[in-house]
Amino acid sequence: MPATVIVGTQWGDEGKGRFTDLLSKESELVVRYQGGHNAGHTIVADGEVLQLQLVPSGILYPYVVPVIGNGVVVDPKVLIDELDMLEGRGIDTQRLRLSGNAHLIMPYHQELDMVSERFLGKNKLGTTKRGIGPAYADKAARVGIRIQDLLDEKIFAEKLDLALREKNQVLAKVYNRLPLDRDELLERYLSYRPRLEPMICDTVALIHDELETGKRVLFEGAQATFLDLDHGTYPFVTSSNPTAGGACIGAGVGPRHLDRIIGVTKAYTTRVGSGPFPAELAEGDAVGDLLVERGHEYGTNTGRRRRPGWLDAVMLRHAVRLNSLTEVALTKLDVLSPIPEVKVCVAYEVPSPSGGWERLEGFPYHQSVLHKARPVYETLPGWQAEVETVTEFDDLPPAARDYVRFIEQCAGVPVSYVAVGPSREQTVVLPVAA
Ligand code: GDP
Ligand code: IMO
Ligand code: MG
Repeated sequence: MPATVIVGTQWGDEGKGRFTDLLSKESELVVRYQGGHNAGHTIVADGEVLQLQLVPSGILYPYVVPVIGNGVVVDPKVLIDELDMLEGRGIDTQRLRLSGNAHLIMPYHQELDMVSERFLGKNKLGTTKRGIGPAYADKAARVGIRIQDLLDEKIFAEKLDLALREKNQVLAKVYNRLPLDRDELLERYLSYRPRLEPMICDTVALIHDELETGKRVLFEGAQATFLDLDHGTYPFVTSSNPTAGGACIGAGVGPRHLDRIIGVTKAYTTRVGSGPFPAELAEGDAVGDLLVERGHEYGTNTGRRRRPGWLDAVMLRHAVRLNSLTEVALTKLDVLSPIPEVKVCVAYEVPSPSGGWERLEGFPYHQSVLHKARPVYETLPGWQAEVETVTEFDDLPPAARDYVRFIEQCAGVPVSYVAVGPSREQTVVLPVAA
């Protein structure tokens, strides 16, 4: 099947990077379609750990063309630094292609992200402070500056002047910050051009040319379903559309082209940043601490401790719908190994209009309901055996297999992969994916 999308089904950090890496092996193009360097995608291969923020996780295969699509927001300095890091590790980055329509993250976006979070005080979103929200806001307001603008000094200077006229006023008068120096900024951004220019192209044409000749294209989502601007837990979301439909917009393909949509799901749940989380384990909970420590649940990008909780099947069912998932790729099953009893949130209890509480099977669309939702758990026996070296599904302990089958039943789509450790080779492939 030529086009596959990889999407997170929770609040990010499910292990999308490792699956993009795994499936890149049989792909010709790997495309990032949204987000920016708020992402942190980890690949562990041959004992080496690689963390990527902007470059698609297909970069490790010399025959793969990695593409940064039009839907991504790009901080050019971060991109160049990442390319240097990869080159330093002996990885050829010449093949990378960059959409001319992708928007640039400018220093004022980063500055505004920081000060607006500070102004929100206790209501802050807990963003990654990378300038993502302000960059997408400018894109929607039609005052953004795009990668292609770097190719024409006059146009770039004009757009920068227009932007700074407003941004410097806002920074100085609303946030009491120093205005940004126009000449320094212009010189700095134009200095990125020689490095980026050979990579800039019409990525939409590139993707379609490949699809038309039967080549395999993999779309790598960043962030996740419940961080989606439209479908996530607004306002505690990111400013792009990580859901599978976002691949269409952010890469320039129609839905008819998408054949396989893989929802990467952690065997439990984590969230970094603020916002509702019904199956969250309270601070100090022993299982929560175990998940964080065994799962190394600290942000790849910002180092923040991730908030832990049990797997939420209500969210998973909703993610199956929102993304038209064809399957689920389950990660971090190994982290649950020592736990005697494993819980899965199968429904919520929410306040009933007639008083008391009532059971809700679906994900609440109304924020007040979501904020009050209490988890209803089903308890399954744990397996209390290490699974890191298992390579065949049938060799997993029976209770671990039952846990996977239970998730499958809840999701209503097959589980096609089970990851039992961070490395590429610690992946159990189920017959449905083979
Ligand atoms: P992404 O943003 O979805 O690509 O995920 P991150 O890379 O931010 O976070 C996932 C973390 O879990 C990384 O440190 C991975 O190396 C690690 N990881 C991924 N899959 C597994 C797994 O099956 N078991 C364990 N123990 N760690 C995993
Ligand atoms: P990957 O691709 C986890 C969260 C932030 C914050 C909210 C908004 O590695 O899964 P933003 O900087 O995007 O405006 O922040 O979204 N967030 C992520 N959480 N993984 C990510 O990416 C994230 N990218 C953004 O913590 O709550
Ligand atoms: Mg991550």
